[in-house]
Amino acid sequence: MRFHVLTLFPELIENTFGTSITGRGLESGKLALHTVNIRDYADNRHHKVDDSPYGGGAGLVMQAEPVYRAWESVRRECAGAPRVIYVTPQGHTFRQELARELAREEELIFLCGHYEGIDERVLKEIVTDYISIGDYVLTGGELAALVMMDAIARLVPGVLHNQESAEFESFHNSLLEYPQYSRPETWHEKQVPRELLSGNHKEIEDWRLEQAKKRTRERRPDLYEEYERRQACERQLMKQKLLHTDMLESLRADRGRILHFEEESVALADCEGIFYVTAKDPEAGEKILEKISNNKQKPALLVLHQEFLVERARKLLGPLACERRFPYVYTQKHPLPRCYGAEIRPLTELEDQEREDVAKLVQESGCGQRKKEAFLACFRKGRVYGAFVEGRLRGFMGQNQAGDLDFLYVGELWRRRGIGRALETAWVNQLLGQGARPFVWVEEGEESSRLFQESLGLCRAKSPVWILAKP
Ligand code: ADE
Repeated sequence: MRFHVLTLFPELIENTFGTSITGRGLESGKLALHTVNIRDYADNRHHKVDDSPYGGGAGLVMQAEPVYRAWESVRRECAGAPRVIYVTPQGHTFRQELARELAREEELIFLCGHYEGIDERVLKEIVTDYISIGDYVLTGGELAALVMMDAIARLVPGVLHNQESAEFESFHNSLLEYPQYSRPETWHEKQVPRELLSGNHKEIEDWRLEQAKKRTRERRPDLYEEYERRQACERQLMKQKLLHTDMLESLRADRGRILHFEEESVALADCEGIFYVTAKDPEAGEKILEKISNNKQKPALLVLHQEFLVERARKLLGPLACERRFPYVYTQKHPLPRCYGAEIRPLTELEDQEREDVAKLVQESGCGQRKKEAFLACFRKGRVYGAFVEGRLRGFMGQNQAGDLDFLYVGELWRRRGIGRALETAWVNQLLGQGARPFVWVEEGEESSRLFQESLGLCRAKSPVWILAKP
C-alpha cells in the first residue's frame, strides 16, 4: 500500500508515520509513504498558497491551483486513479469498516487542509471521499490523516506480525474487545478471572465472547444493536447455509455491510463492490433491487440467490451479463490430507522465469479479456497461488474478491498428476486455518469441475446463484 499525502507539513507526516509499527511497515516494503509539500507548487517567490475568502470572513483559504498541481504531480506517478481523501470535519465519520475497505486499495492520496479550508472548485475536481475522524475541529488535517493512515496500515497484510494481529479485536462483528490481563495473577488484591487460567480453549472463548457482549451493551448500546441485527441476519442466512455461504463469508470476514434485512430477505454490500441479494418473493426482491439501484456505490458484481431477481435486476440496473453457477462448499472442520504432487506457494515476488511461465499458462488457458483482468487484479493483491514441479510453474489458482476459488488451471501437459488437487487442498486448508469456509461457484454443465469438487468432499447447494456483471 502506498500513501501519498498532500500537505503543508510533510515532516509531521514523515516523522510520525516513520515510527513504531508503521515505520517497520515502511522498512519491510509492505507500506510506502510519499509526501508532497503543497508549497512547492505555489506560483510565487514566497511560496504563499493561501488568500482571503471571497465574500469576506475570518481566516485564509488555501488556493486551488497549488493543490491541483500537487495532486497532478502525484497522479502522474500512479498506475491507476487512486481515491483522493480530503480529511475534513465536514466528511462522514471514519469507522473500522471504512478502514477495511481502504486497506484493499493499492494507493491512496490524502489531502490535508489548513486555515479555513480549501477552495471548493479544486475539491470538486479531485476529491473522491470526504472523511472526518470525529465531531471536533483540529488545527489542520495532518493529525486526522495520520489517524486514518495508521488504522488502514495495520490492516495491510504483513504489516502486523502474527502475534499482533488479533483475530478478535474491537469492532470485529460489531463488538468491542473483551478485557485483557497479564502477569501477575494477583495485583492490588484483584485476581485474573478464573476462566482465563483454566487452559480450556472453549471456556476461554465463551468467556471472552460474553465479556465482549457485556462491554458493548454497557458502553456502546448503538453498536450492540448492530451486533444483534447481524446475529439475526446470520441466523436467517443459515437456514440455507450452502446457498448463502458467500453472504455468510462476507459477514464473517467483516467485508459485508447489511444493506437490507427484513423477514427472509437480505442484501449485503461487500466492500469489494459485490452486492448479494436473497429475497423471500419478487415483491421483496423489487424493494431491495431498487435500493441498490439508488445506492451511491454501484455494484461491480451482483450475486442473486433466486431466479426471479434476474430480470428485475436487468431492468433496474441496465444490461448485465449473467452466469448461473452452483455453490460447492467444504463443510467439514478437519483439513484435507496434504498432497505431494506439487509445491504450492503464493505468486507474489516473481522472478523473470516465473513471470514468463505465468503469462504462458494464462495464454494457454484461453480465457477471455474480462477473466484475464480479474486474474490480474487477483494477482496484484497476492491472492494467486502457483503449483511448482521441479522448480517450474505448472498450474495456478486464485481467490476471487468474493472469497471463492477461481482461475484453477493446470498446464495441458501436466494434467492427471494431482496438481489441481494439490492446489485446491492447500487453499482449503489455508482457509480453514483462518476460520473461513471454502467455497467454489461451478458453472452448470461443467461436469469435470463438478466431479473434481465432489472428489475433494465439497457439497453442492440445492439451488444455484446468478452472478451478474457489466458485459
Ligand atoms: N481537520 C480538522 N478537523 C478534522 C477532523 N475532525 N477530521 C478530519 N479532518 C479534520
